[in-house]
Amino acid sequence: MTDLRSLGVSGFCLGGNVFGWTADAVQSRDVLDAYVAGGGNFIDTSDSYMNYFPEQGNVPGQSETIIGDWLAARGNRDQVVVATKVGDHPEYMGIEPATIKAAVDESLRRLRTDYIDLYYLHYDRDESIPVGDVIGALDELVQAGKVRAIGASNITPERLAAFLEFSDREGMARFSALQPQYNLVSRETYEGGLRDVVQREGLACVPYFALASGFLTGKYRAGEASGNVRDVPGMAGGYAGTERGTRVLEALEAVATERGVQLATVAIAWVAQQPTVVAPIASARTVEQLSALFAMNDVQLTASELDVLDVASR
Ligand SMILES: NC(=O)c1ccc[n+]([C@@H]2O[C@H](COP(=O)([O-])OP(=O)(O)OC[C@H]3O[C@@H](n4cnc5c(N)ncnc54)[C@H](OP(=O)(O)O)[C@@H]3O)[C@@H](O)[C@H]2O)c1
Repeated sequence: MTDLRSLGVSGFCLGGNVFGWTADAVQSRDVLDAYVAGGGNFIDTSDSYMNYFPEQGNVPGQSETIIGDWLAARGNRDQVVVATKVGDHPEYMGIEPATIKAAVDESLRRLRTDYIDLYYLHYDRDESIPVGDVIGALDELVQAGKVRAIGASNITPERLAAFLEFSDREGMARFSALQPQYNLVSRETYEGGLRDVVQREGLACVPYFALASGFLTGKYRAGEASGNVRDVPGMAGGYAGTERGTRVLEALEAVATERGVQLATVAIAWVAQQPTVVAPIASARTVEQLSALFAMNDVQLTASELDVLDVASR
C-alpha cells in the first residue's frame, strides 16, 4: 500500500471545512485555484464538513462536493492529493466496518473520483470496536483501490499503537499519517504520548487547527473578528483573553514584526518546524488569506525565535 510520504505532498495542506460553510462555492473554487497556482497539492476534507452548525443550514458532504466539482472542472485529479475522513457524518457515524464501507462510496461519489489518496478515521470514539475489525475494513478498501493510504485523527496513543501493532502482525493496511490538533495554544494533545508513537512508528504528522481557528492571526485581540462564527468555545473564541493566548500573541507579534510578516505566517511556520510534522493544515476563506499561509515557505524560524515561541506557549 502507499505511504503518505511517498505521495509527495506540499508543506502546507489546505483545510476544506470552509468550503460550503464560510466560503460559498465560487469563493471556494477561487481559493482552490489560488492554492494550486501557489504550488499546493494537498487538500484536506471530511465527509462531515460542515456538520457542526446544523442550525446554520450547513450540509454535511458539501465540502467534498465542492472539491469534486472543482477537480472535475479543472481535470487535475492526478495532480492533487485528496485526504478525506470517515466517522462523523450524521448518517455514517462511527467506524464500524459496515459504516466505513458504505461511507467511502458516498465520499467517492461526491469527490467525483474513483480513489481517495488518504483516508482518515475522523474520531475513535468507541474503543470497544476491535482494532482488527476496523483495519480489516480499511484493508479491503486499499485492496479494492478505493483508498491509497490510511490515517487516524483524534485518537489516544494507546489505541494508535494497538492499530499499528495489529496491521504489522497481520500484514494488513497500516496508518501512515496522524492528524492531531496542534498549534501554539494547544500543544498538550500531541506532544507526549501521541508524538512518541508517531516518531517511533515513522508516521507523518499532519496537524489541524494550525491557526487555532484563526485566533493566532491576532485578529480576535484586535476585535476585527468579534461575532465571527469561529468566535466560540472550542474554536478561536476559546483562547481570546486567556493568559496563555495573550502571551503567545505577544511572542508572535515580536517575531512577526522583526521579520515584517504576518502573525499567521509565524504561527503556521512554527507548527511546520516541529518534529514529525510533514504538513500543517490551515484553511483560508479568501484568496487574500492564503498568501499569509504560503509565506511560511519563506520563513525558517531561528533557534532563538523558536525558543521565544516555546516559552510563551508553555
Ligand atoms: N481532524 C479533525 O478533527 C479536524 C478538526 C478541525 C479541523 N480540521 C481540518 O483542519 C483544517 C483547518 O482547521 P480550521 O480551518 O478549522 O482552523 P485554522 O486553519 O486554524 O483557521 C483557519 C481560519 O482562520 C482564518 N484565517 C486564515 N488565514 C487567515 C489570515 N491570513 N488572516 C486572517 N484570518 C485568517 C479563516 O477564518 P475566518 O476568515 O472565518 O476568520 C480560516 O478559515 C480544516 O479546514 C479541516 O480540514 C480537522
